[in-house]
Amino acid sequence: MPAELSVIEKAAVVVGGGFWKTHAAPGIRSVLITDGPHGLRKQEGGGDHLGLGTSTPATCFPPAVALASTFNAELVERVGIALGKEARAEDVTVLLGPGVNIKRSPLCGRNFEYFSEDPLVSGRLGAALVRGIQSQGVGASLKHFAANNQETNRMTVSAEVDERTLRELYLPAFEMIVKREQPWTVMCSYNRLNGVAAAESHWLLTKVLRDEWGFQGAVVSDWGAVDGRVPALNAGTDLEMPGPQGDSVTAIVEAVASGELDERVLDASVERIRALAAKAGPATSGYDVDAHHALARQAAEESIVLLRNDGVLPLGPTERIAVIGELARTPRIQGAGSSQVNPTRVDNALDQLSARASVDFAAGYTLGGRPDPELRGSDLRDEAVKLAARSDSVLLFLGLPERDESEGYDRTRLELPDDQLALVHAVAAVNPRTAVVLTNGGVVTLEPWHDSVAAILECWLLGQAGGAAIADVVFGGTSPSGRLAESIPLRLQDTPSYLNFPGEGDVVRYAEGIFVGYRYYETVETPVRYPFGYGLGYTTFSYSELRVGRDRVSVTVTNSGRVAGKEVVQLYVSAPPSGVRVPARELRGFAKVALQPGESRSVTISLDDRSFSFWDVDSSSWVIAGGDYSVQIGKSAHDIVLRATIRRASTRPSHPLTLESPVSAWLAHPVTGPLLRRTAAKEAAEEGGADVLEMVGSMPMRRLLRFPGVEIDRRQLELLRRVANNPVVLGVARGVARLRSTIARSSD
Ligand code: BGC
Repeated sequence: MPAELSVIEKAAVVVGGGFWKTHAAPGIRSVLITDGPHGLRKQEGGGDHLGLGTSTPATCFPPAVALASTFNAELVERVGIALGKEARAEDVTVLLGPGVNIKRSPLCGRNFEYFSEDPLVSGRLGAALVRGIQSQGVGASLKHFAANNQETNRMTVSAEVDERTLRELYLPAFEMIVKREQPWTVMCSYNRLNGVAAAESHWLLTKVLRDEWGFQGAVVSDWGAVDGRVPALNAGTDLEMPGPQGDSVTAIVEAVASGELDERVLDASVERIRALAAKAGPATSGYDVDAHHALARQAAEESIVLLRNDGVLPLGPTERIAVIGELARTPRIQGAGSSQVNPTRVDNALDQLSARASVDFAAGYTLGGRPDPELRGSDLRDEAVKLAARSDSVLLFLGLPERDESEGYDRTRLELPDDQLALVHAVAAVNPRTAVVLTNGGVVTLEPWHDSVAAILECWLLGQAGGAAIADVVFGGTSPSGRLAESIPLRLQDTPSYLNFPGEGDVVRYAEGIFVGYRYYETVETPVRYPFGYGLGYTTFSYSELRVGRDRVSVTVTNSGRVAGKEVVQLYVSAPPSGVRVPARELRGFAKVALQPGESRSVTISLDDRSFSFWDVDSSSWVIAGGDYSVQIGKSAHDIVLRATIRRASTRPSHPLTLESPVSAWLAHPVTGPLLRRTAAKEAAEEGGADVLEMVGSMPMRRLLRFPGVEIDRRQLELLRRVANNPVVLGVARGVARLRSTIARSSD
């Protein structure tokens, strides 16, 4: 820590030096910090954080929504390496990404920047991106910490989330990445969490992030997220961005003088910012633009999810193909807002398809809300329908126009635009070989047109090389291998947060708890159009030889089809009933494997204690309830193909019995339970009455003793309680109980 800095100099350091740079001070250099998660957005001159101004050209890789569908951590890491190289070449020290917030509702306007509804997918792939970026001597910024799952009122809304839900769903991706990769920075979010601004949450930024997870880097505020600089500093927000903010500097100086802020807290933040700046290496001289475009194309290819195919895909090269839809000619490659990249070049699907086959084009609809002055919507549609009718097959490009989804606001519906809905019905009616190619950053419903088309490719937003990737998949150059990282519901009303998104006023209650996405649909058996994890290819895979050990699972996968392809092996765990409500199953591991036709491979996936645990609010710790867990291999969260059972012992902390413990706890106890049951049964038999112990299960023992007619000797009970709480007696009793249940099971 440069000890010679004055308080005013230190205060200036913990506030940015400009829109995209930190403040320089003696011994501390100023460094550049820029967006974003799927490409560099470096602005020269004036800055803005809404994607409005221009930026230096950079490779636009597929955004997180698409990368997540690859389920390929190794590929995502390579994208991270390329991002790091581009940042380094532009002298950027920190890249503002990845965003690993959970997709709580498909309506979140920024879902294209997030990976999944599942924390393991978000954590594993986010970690891969961070690993890649940081391998190049560039820091990542893990965002938006935490519970920033909507854009509506994002700067003021309070996400009301219970602790178990936070620990099991909204924090684990952050936790995994912090523990494994130590991102150079974490960005705290705009919103409030349970009433406290994330930037001012000591619990979040210091207790959980630093003390529990061991975070070593600097916490950076989201742009404009700091209201009170002093409380934010006290909570753990090291760097306020953007700067400079004169009033923040004044507030800090005054707070140190008055004793409201301990100068050591300021010193610690200054030191973290100094350490961050010191990590920055010198700028490199450029990067391989063509190689990065090729990587963007490979990532795009693996992101595409084939949802439906009655055999029309892949198309033959000699077919007369109608390409319909403005999105084929004017691709949407990314979402709007701070992550918007100025691409080095863009492949559009129409050119790429035309280069490979005989193709005719009709726009079918307009994008951007301005009707074509020459043609009315119905004219565009008629022209497209005529083309479809005289073609062998149709590639119909549909999707969300740019205005429908963006940082800053949420969507209000899941359907495609009305003019496109009219178009798909009209085209499918004249050509049964219609394949729909979808472009959308957030999930769209496939209703009511799903059954009328022959094939559907979900292409999300594919980055600058998406057009070539689509052409490769459509003509069978590569077998689609993307899988859904989020469920596709039938209706908005079916989504678990439907009644609580985006909340009312400045409060949003996460009333669905951990039951988000497939955790909800599978548990309550609500049908979806396509489940989490689902995706087809041009080949098929079969599974055999599932072996389950304590910390690893192996299974053999075989490519049972006729072309090469990649399969995503998905491992789910289903917990036994335990008094704690748990989802029907949860993803606990995955691996992507490439196989030639006929080839088999054994795939091993690790499990750890967390794979079997829930967050126990009583003990504030991860706990295994204990019992028989079903370990499952699925083709999706809904389609389980192999299962095996593994027994795990309970790690629940035992609460000593007291007279306040409910009768049910006395009954469940291995020492007192059998004795009480035997006594009650004996009395019931002698007096011809009913055994009432189960009926008074929720009653504290002390109250039961006060009821007239209850003949339990209080002194004897007290003695029994002491014996029962003795750890040695307890251990022996547990052993006997386990032995009994093993004997009972083996004689079944
Ligand atoms: C966004 C961040 C972004 C920052 C800087 C904010 O509006 O929420 O994700 O990194 O601006 O552009």
